[in-house]
Amino acid sequence: MERKRWYKDMVFYQIWPRSFKDGNGDGMGDLWGVLEKLDYIKSLGCDGIWFSPIYPSPGADCGYDIADYMDIAEEFGGMEAFKKVLDGVHERGMKLIMDLVVNHTSDEHEWFEKSRRRIEPYTDYYIWRPARADGKLPNNWDSNFEGSAWTWDDVRGEYYLHLFAVKQPDLNMDNPLVREEVKKILRFWLDMGVDGFREDVITYISKAEGLPDDHLFPIYKGMPKYNHGPHIHEYLAEFKRDVFDHYDCFTLAEAPLVWPKQALKYIDEEKGQIDMMIQFQCQCADCLFTDYMPTKFSLVRMKKAFSDWQYKLEGRAWNMLYMENHDHPRIISRYGSEKYRTESGKAIAAAYLFQKGTPFLYQGQEIGMTNWRPADADMYEDVQTRYYYAHSNLNKSHKERLEKLWRSSRDSARTPVQWDGSENAGFTTGKPWFYVNENYKEVNVAAQENDPASLLNFYRKAIALRKSLPVVRHGSYKEHFPLDNKLYVYSREMEGQKILVVCSFSYKCVDMKIPKGFDMDKAKLILQSYPMAAGKTLRPYETRVYLWE
Ligand code: NOJ
Repeated sequence: MERKRWYKDMVFYQIWPRSFKDGNGDGMGDLWGVLEKLDYIKSLGCDGIWFSPIYPSPGADCGYDIADYMDIAEEFGGMEAFKKVLDGVHERGMKLIMDLVVNHTSDEHEWFEKSRRRIEPYTDYYIWRPARADGKLPNNWDSNFEGSAWTWDDVRGEYYLHLFAVKQPDLNMDNPLVREEVKKILRFWLDMGVDGFREDVITYISKAEGLPDDHLFPIYKGMPKYNHGPHIHEYLAEFKRDVFDHYDCFTLAEAPLVWPKQALKYIDEEKGQIDMMIQFQCQCADCLFTDYMPTKFSLVRMKKAFSDWQYKLEGRAWNMLYMENHDHPRIISRYGSEKYRTESGKAIAAAYLFQKGTPFLYQGQEIGMTNWRPADADMYEDVQTRYYYAHSNLNKSHKERLEKLWRSSRDSARTPVQWDGSENAGFTTGKPWFYVNENYKEVNVAAQENDPASLLNFYRKAIALRKSLPVVRHGSYKEHFPLDNKLYVYSREMEGQKILVVCSFSYKCVDMKIPKGFDMDKAKLILQSYPMAAGKTLRPYETRVYLWE
């Protein structure tokens, strides 16, 4: 039995606040800027917003290193601006979810300051280990961002574990006091009216007993020992039982390295502990596990990932659908073509917006923002990028090393949103905190707003359509021609209504393929990416949606 939950009818918009819109002219995106743009977000057809972290933070990982969970950073406008945004969201009939980052805190969080000084009850809030007699580190795990996962702390005289940056010590979730702190944080925001949480790397919060060495996979050495750890379901069930079950809210868990079978242990609608999952398979059509191990783009691989999740979750759990977020380079630069920016942007949009699940858009995706390519490596801000550059490919040329960053860095997608063709792309009247992509004069919201053929308006049409068609919400999914490496063709079907989505991922013209049993004489073309459909040939990246009812 499918549970009726409001998030299933929604489309979300992700705001990475630093680069969304500056409202007070200091060069940094903020909540005043968000307030100005709520109507714009609503005009897309999006009725939910996910905020990447907006809490006080020293910014070692752009806010994913939190120094105070129960406040809003001054640079974003503080609590005053947040409450206005929250009211503004609700007045418009929209919902707002926060980022919950509790695998780790900032090393500037009061808990860590006290823990390193062994002040009770904080002594065991983090994962501390003494130096080993043989001089080796407590174990051989790597951090995801900066070398070893262990850093020595002189104050405490012990190592602490950090699965991410050195300034992001991991919390010890095995300590019941820490879990109570998490619940306090959840209640604080839910009582204020927040509608749910995106839970950052939540599958990492339970580490294997004894923190054993691991030898499997060089760049994420250790991950099998802390991802989906021994108490993960128990802790998540505890949060659900003690907090979430008492509110009308939903949870979205970020889960690196997860496949549908395992995901169902978390999101099964009868037995799961959370509502939806951010999986990474759909981010691996042009890389192996991480953007730093690029491969050639394979449409077949992308389709397989989509279909796997669609088929295996059917009737049991609900999909979260996304193509972009703040952790990956821009999708047109990866899976589409910058030359055919608008066309390929539309194909990518249609490829996921008509699947079953709740779609998320990342700021700038709707106007087809592309990868930022700085002239030098020291222009990068991201901790992961900087570490990677300093330690990898040292024998390669400067140009090759830089090109690798263009292709792989998260900063490729973190430049300010391009609102118009004026100075700084209309993002700020001050000096922007980060570089603006040079293509802002051509790629911006204002330029697309009144153009019916723009990518922006295609997103609007596609989202409006998906909301108007019961088959998109309820129908079953079927992929056709799975081995075709140029076309993604899928259909959705329920009693009395059927759609067929055809997306070309080729920069050349290709023949249209229609699966058997689809009577084109009775089909209604309800969405197309070129102004006029041209018969049996699909032009570069052409996409069409047909309806039968
Ligand atoms: C996943 C977040 O999306 C990413 O931006 C962050 O750096 C890591 N988790 C660590 O919090």
